[in-house]
Amino acid sequence: MEFIRPEHYLPNKKGIADVKQYGIGLIGCGSIANSAHLPAYRKYGLHIAACCDVNAEAARATAEKFDIPFWTTDINELLAREDVGVIDLAIHPEPRLEVLKLIGKAPRPVLCQKPLALDLAHAERLSQEAARLGIILGVNQQARWAPAHKALKTVLEQDLIGEIYSIHHYMRSFQDQAGWWWTNMANFNIVDHGVHYVDLCRYFNPYPEEWSRVHCTTAQLKGQMQSIR
Ligand SMILES: NC(=O)c1ccc[n+]([C@@H]2O[C@H](COP(=O)([O-])OP(=O)(O)OC[C@H]3O[C@@H](n4cnc5c(N)ncnc54)[C@H](O)[C@@H]3O)[C@@H](O)[C@H]2O)c1
Repeated sequence: MEFIRPEHYLPNKKGIADVKQYGIGLIGCGSIANSAHLPAYRKYGLHIAACCDVNAEAARATAEKFDIPFWTTDINELLAREDVGVIDLAIHPEPRLEVLKLIGKAPRPVLCQKPLALDLAHAERLSQEAARLGIILGVNQQARWAPAHKALKTVLEQDLIGEIYSIHHYMRSFQDQAGWWWTNMANFNIVDHGVHYVDLCRYFNPYPEEWSRVHCTTAQLKGQMQSIR
């Protein structure tokens, strides 16, 4: 019997032969880019070639903080750069279609933040548009690579715990935090953050067919900001 080891589930750079070849062009210099994407890129020595945001101050401050050699508010300027090999799309779902069309003029592989969209029709539209424009579109469902989840996947692959009949995720969270974009967002705990757990159901599914049922729910106390609509 094989047992899991840290190299099975901890992040690594295996498979990236030449980081320069994959210079990253970041579109969207907001909270998640600054707090998670860029520190991780820096930690693993990846090359961040350029960054862009419609908010000039966000683009400038991000470039300064992470020593990014080029910043702009114009996506076309970012796309014109030869050192941008891949795009990190760290904006909200609403402007994604418009931005994807611009990237389509000089297609690069795109890693798009989750949730891809807030409804299925929009997600399908983005997927179709990416295919039409020749863009490889990945969705950043990074919970799959969180060490605990990757370790569990390894356990499943090694058949250490037998057959899976159901999966239960229990998430303790709330959106009663004033001043954030999610504070009053409808169904935030399901459609935004909760999408990680829906995705993990797929990731952990050992069968070729989809699960026959997936449900999720939240609770709300009187006076809580959480909006269930
Ligand atoms: N994977 C995760 O665990 C995780 C965690 C947090 C956020 N996210 C997702 O990341 C996305 C962004 O979240 P955030 O917290 O960084 O939001 P944010 O509001 O802090 O940042 C978004 C940035 O995008 C910029 N922007 C908007 N339209 C643009 C355009 N057309 N071109 C260039 N820049 C544009 C805004 O000016 C802003 O700086 C959301 O979809 C969110 O759900 C994912």
